[in-house]
Amino acid sequence: MARQRIAVIAGDGIGQEVMPEGLRVMKAAADRFNLSLSFEHFDFASCDYYEQHGRMMPEDWKSRLEGFDALYFGAVGMPERVPDHVSLWGSLLQFRRHFDQYINLRPCRLLQGVTSPLANRAPGDIDFMVVRENTEGEYSSIGGRMYEGTDRELAIQETVMSRHGIDRALRFAFELASTRPKRSLTSATKSNGISITMPYWDERVNAMATHYPDITVDSFHIDILTARFVMHPDMFDVVVASNLFGDILSDLGPACAGTIGIAPSANLNPERRFPSLFEPVHGSAPDIFGQNIANPVGQIWSGAMMLDHLGHAEAADAVVKAFEAVLAQADSAVITPDLGGQGTTETLGRAIADRLV
Ligand code: NAD
Ligand code: IPM
Ligand code: MN
Repeated sequence: MARQRIAVIAGDGIGQEVMPEGLRVMKAAADRFNLSLSFEHFDFASCDYYEQHGRMMPEDWKSRLEGFDALYFGAVGMPERVPDHVSLWGSLLQFRRHFDQYINLRPCRLLQGVTSPLANRAPGDIDFMVVRENTEGEYSSIGGRMYEGTDRELAIQETVMSRHGIDRALRFAFELASTRPKRSLTSATKSNGISITMPYWDERVNAMATHYPDITVDSFHIDILTARFVMHPDMFDVVVASNLFGDILSDLGPACAGTIGIAPSANLNPERRFPSLFEPVHGSAPDIFGQNIANPVGQIWSGAMMLDHLGHAEAADAVVKAFEAVLAQADSAVITPDLGGQGTTETLGRAIADRLV
C-alpha cells in the first residue's frame, strides 16, 4: 500500500501533552503491522500561532491540509489568552466545515478497570455510539448583534437544519445501528419547545426509519435524555443528535463511563472527498496543563479510529486491545489521576505502546 500522510496538529494546552503519546502508540502500531504512515507536524491552529500572526491559521491552510489522508488533532483553546469563539471558529470548526466532516462519531464505553461514578455499573452496561451532526444545526454563523451598547442590545444566532444535512447524518446513524447487536437507535429531540427545527428533525427521523424496518427507534427530549444517560445508560446503542445536543451528550456519556479523558472522536467525511479528523472529545484543559497528568487514552483511541478509517482494522483493533489491557490492570503507578492513579501522561502512553511491540 502507498504511504499514507497524516497531518499532526497538537494545538493548545494538554493537546501538546497527549499528542506525543498518541504518536508513540501510532508509531508502535505502524512498526508492528508494517504500515507505511508519515506524520507531518503543523504549529498552526493554536493560540501561540494566533499571538504571533494575529490569526489562528495561515491563509493557505486549506491547500496545505487538503492532500493529507487524515488529520490527527489534539485540542484548541486558551480562553485566558484568546476568546474561545475566536480560537475555535478560527480552527477546528473551520476544519469540520471546509472538509465537510459532517459526522462526529463518538463511542462511549465503560472499560474494565475504570470506575463509573454511577452506582453498580460494570463494563458492558455502558456501550453506545453518539452520532453527532457536525456541520450545521445550532452551530451556525447566521445571525448577529444589534444596537450594541444600548439597552436595546440583542444577539441572534439562527439554527440551520437542512434536509440534506439531517438526512446524511441520520443515514449514517441508521447504517451504524444495522451493524450493532441491539439494532436500536435513539434520537435526541426538543420538539416540545424548539418548535420549528426540532419537529423537522423528528419528521426526518421518522422518514428515514421507514427505510430501516428492523431498527428499533425511539426519541427523547434532550432534558430527559440526559437524565436517562445517568439512570439507564444500559438502554442506549446508537444515539443520534443535532450538533449541540450531540456535543453535550458526548461529554455526559464518557463522564458516566468514568472520565472524559478516554473519550475519542472521529470527524468524518464518509465519502472521503476530504481528509477526516481524529481528536479526543476533551479540550485543552488549561487547569491541568503543564503537570503531565492528562490522560492520553482519548488521543490514543482517536488514533485507533484513524487507523481503522485508513484501512488498517487489525492495527486499530490491536491499539484498542492494548489500552483496554493496560486500563484493566489498573496499576496505580501507570494510570493517570483521573483514573485514580499516580501515573503520568507518559507512563500511561508508554505502557500502551509497549503492549504493541
Ligand atoms: P476540557 O475538556 O478542556 O476540560 C474539562 C475538565 O476535564 C477539566 O477539569 C480538565 O482538567 C478535565 N480533562 C479534560 N481532558 C482530560 C484528560 N485528558 N485527562 C484528565 N482530565 C481531563 O473542557 P473546558 O475546560 O470546557 O475547555 C477548556 C478549553 O478547551 C476551552 O478553550 C474550550 O473551548 C476548549 N475545548 C476544545 C475542544 C477541542 O479542541 N476539541 C473541546 C472542548 C473544549
Ligand atoms: C467538541 C468541542 C467543540 C464543539 C468546541 C471546542 C467548539 O466541545 O469537539 O466537543 O463544541 O464541537
Ligand atoms: Mn464538546
